[in-house]
Amino acid sequence: MSAAPVIAIDGPSAAGKGTVAEEVARTLGFHYLDSGALYRLVALAAAREGIDAGDEAKLAAIAARLPARFEGEDIYLEAERVTDAIRSEENSFAASRVAALPAVRRALLDRQRSFRNPPGLVAEGRDMASIVFPDAALKVFLTASPEARAERRYKQLKEKGIAATLAALLQDLRERDARDAARSVAPLKQSPGARLLDTTAMSAAQAANLVVDWYRGANR
Ligand code: C5P
Repeated sequence: MSAAPVIAIDGPSAAGKGTVAEEVARTLGFHYLDSGALYRLVALAAAREGIDAGDEAKLAAIAARLPARFEGEDIYLEAERVTDAIRSEENSFAASRVAALPAVRRALLDRQRSFRNPPGLVAEGRDMASIVFPDAALKVFLTASPEARAERRYKQLKEKGIAATLAALLQDLRERDARDAARSVAPLKQSPGARLLDTTAMSAAQAANLVVDWYRGANR
């Protein structure tokens, strides 16, 4: 029996991976995995339980029993809807620290793979192509210039009525990129066999169409 096909989409934060991956999943009728949400959930659960961001054993234990549910667009931690809480700047920072711990990454592996079900899965993150789904049918490294990504994040926050400055967002993104790229486990990088998709001058819809075309082209 062959496993359901996976489209792996990796890349830095705020490049539009989420929007593109969701659109590709919708077009193909595939399941969708937002792996970053799992790291964000671990960080939030740890903060709620007062666990230090450097306590690897305790954080891995949280990751292994993470009481989280994905329901359509919504994400729950136990009974609490945390869809927005996991995306705060503070929790984003905590998530990237938690994600640098090997025991946490190991504890989340099976859970990520359990999303692979027929007819297929679109999985987005940092190590989908390299570690979690190395046999993915299509691997995409989706990126955009730091300025374009900061601009997109700025617009998103403004729409939600959250105060932010472009300069501070750009600085945050650069720091997070550096941390994600420099860590020893699953560093952020284009993996061999991944196609580069630079969306700096592209809409999310155009990027999603391109990914669908690549997938269909490869499976013709
Ligand atoms: O993609 P997103 O920004 O939601 O991810 C939150 C954090 O989780 C990132 O800073 C990144 O360090 C981490 N992450 C990861 N591996 C993944 C997905 C996310 O290390 N597959």
